[in-house]
Amino acid sequence: MTSPTTHSRLLAWVDEVARMTRPAAIHWCDGSQQEYDDLCALLVKNGTFAKLDPVKRPGCFIARSHASDVARVEDRTYIAAKSKDEAGPTNNWIDPDALKATMKGLYDGCMAGRTMYVIPFSMGPVGSPFSKIGIELTDSPYVVVNMRIMARIGSAVLKALGDQGEYVPCIHSIGSPLKPGEKDSTWPCAPIEKKYIAHFPEERTIWSYGSGYGGNALLGKKCLALRIASVQARDEGWMAEHMLILALTSPEKKTYYVAAAFPSACGKTNLAMMQPTLPGWTVRTLGDDIAWMRVGPDGRLWAVNPEAGFFGVAPGTSKKSNPHALTTCEKNTIFTNVVHTADNDVWWEDMGIAAPAKGIDWEGKEWTPECGRKGAHANARFTAPASQCPVIDPKWEDPAGVPISAILFGGRRPGTIPLVNEALSWEHGVFMGSSTGSETTAANIGAVGVIRRDPFAMLPFCGYNMGDYFNHWLKMGQKLGAKAPKIFFVNWFRRDAAGKFMWPGYGDNSRVLKYVVERIEGKAQGVKTAIGVLPKAGELDVSGLNLPAGTLDELTKVDADGWKAETAGVAEFYAKFGSRLPSALSAELKGLEQRLTKAAKA
Ligand code: OXD
Ligand code: MN
Repeated sequence: MTSPTTHSRLLAWVDEVARMTRPAAIHWCDGSQQEYDDLCALLVKNGTFAKLDPVKRPGCFIARSHASDVARVEDRTYIAAKSKDEAGPTNNWIDPDALKATMKGLYDGCMAGRTMYVIPFSMGPVGSPFSKIGIELTDSPYVVVNMRIMARIGSAVLKALGDQGEYVPCIHSIGSPLKPGEKDSTWPCAPIEKKYIAHFPEERTIWSYGSGYGGNALLGKKCLALRIASVQARDEGWMAEHMLILALTSPEKKTYYVAAAFPSACGKTNLAMMQPTLPGWTVRTLGDDIAWMRVGPDGRLWAVNPEAGFFGVAPGTSKKSNPHALTTCEKNTIFTNVVHTADNDVWWEDMGIAAPAKGIDWEGKEWTPECGRKGAHANARFTAPASQCPVIDPKWEDPAGVPISAILFGGRRPGTIPLVNEALSWEHGVFMGSSTGSETTAANIGAVGVIRRDPFAMLPFCGYNMGDYFNHWLKMGQKLGAKAPKIFFVNWFRRDAAGKFMWPGYGDNSRVLKYVVERIEGKAQGVKTAIGVLPKAGELDVSGLNLPAGTLDELTKVDADGWKAETAGVAEFYAKFGSRLPSALSAELKGLEQRLTKAAKA
């Protein structure tokens, strides 16, 4: 195939990588439907994909990954900055020269027997001055078809790049060369100790090896749009954040745009597509995972979703938790690691419909509801075009983005943290974001169910020293001044003594969104407390909820003992950053401790 570009730097780089990885062929992706269909057919032929029932799930496929390749591999993810200090205490660091030597050894001949696909992709609408172009070289057709859903790819992007344009070079290999005549497996990948997800922030390049799954392999998402983009954002004065963006319209037909950061698998997709239970309120979706935000000409904060699809967690997605996600993935969707039912459809735990009598589980084994094993992997995913979401907002592809009125932070916190707590100032909001903590889930490999600090939900995604990132947030606040969005910390996940959730969540979170709007409009007064502004009695609309007596008080009070432990936890976390911790944040922590002490004495 001849190359469809005259970008000489790009051509030289593709040639250099091909000489190192030695693929049997090179394919420049044009991003067309025909190309997508051909690659899906190839994946079916290879046994990676099965085509689902064309009536029940038109244009849908199911894939099963290898058991060693089911989630982002944070232990194998590196920020290879020139100095360890630049990567900071929360990132894995390796000397970039040493890492390159190791990875060049792995890349040597790693695409033998395979095709190297060249994927030009744009994060953000093609041609927008705020979009960023990447070129991913990959030997995985599964990656190409997923990238076509998750980003804008192909000829239009090459055209926007022109002959000289800047791009982020991204090398990806599954790390499984084929010998002549060797039979391929259905999910080729390298063993865990050979997987590397590497970022070179000064050079703005990404090298990934050994995994074909999600954020390890679809390099536009976490690697470019968060880790590398966060570095670009720091240098260029904008923000790359792990945030959903939603549009909330009140019964008076006034629309407010809200951005919200929650750690992985805390319900960002559910909140982004929420069906409010409160009459007259509507939510529309602009994005479910990433927001790029900059100060607009009017001095407000404007947000764009750089992605084009949803890579959502399937288990738990149901008519109750997220009916719009279920509709979104009715067609043209790729399912990975869910149950393949005997009638050629998909199923997962907590889908809200009866389990099929039998099927094939994510490990490829015969499965029945009685077999004692879960059928879908806890991090099973659907990859679906955002345009298919029934509540997609008409502005979701607007290159200018949308003006943000409120920022929410949150996590899974069984105790202490109230349902909704408003920051006393931007600096206090930055303090809240920096101290975000959450119970761990299956979205990342590691222990599940322990609280880990995940500042701004960016712990696995910040491409530089997190102390400097806190400072960048403070600086953005100075730029925004009085036009800065209000900041709230929310927690849908409080549990009672018996371990039961105290708040119904899902569509009932619209009650909290309504309160947020009423605070923005000055209609709700709130009560200023030691920890922030909490809703005053009667200000949260709980009509028709029948919450047990005392529950609302419990959800909106200051738990003095809990906050003592919380501030100690934050102090311990902050100690990691040494001199890179902005003094404004140690002052916020001190201020909180003093206010708590004063309140205890009162
Ligand atoms: C994701 C994650 O996949 O945050 O979005 O893990
Ligand atoms: Mn995410």
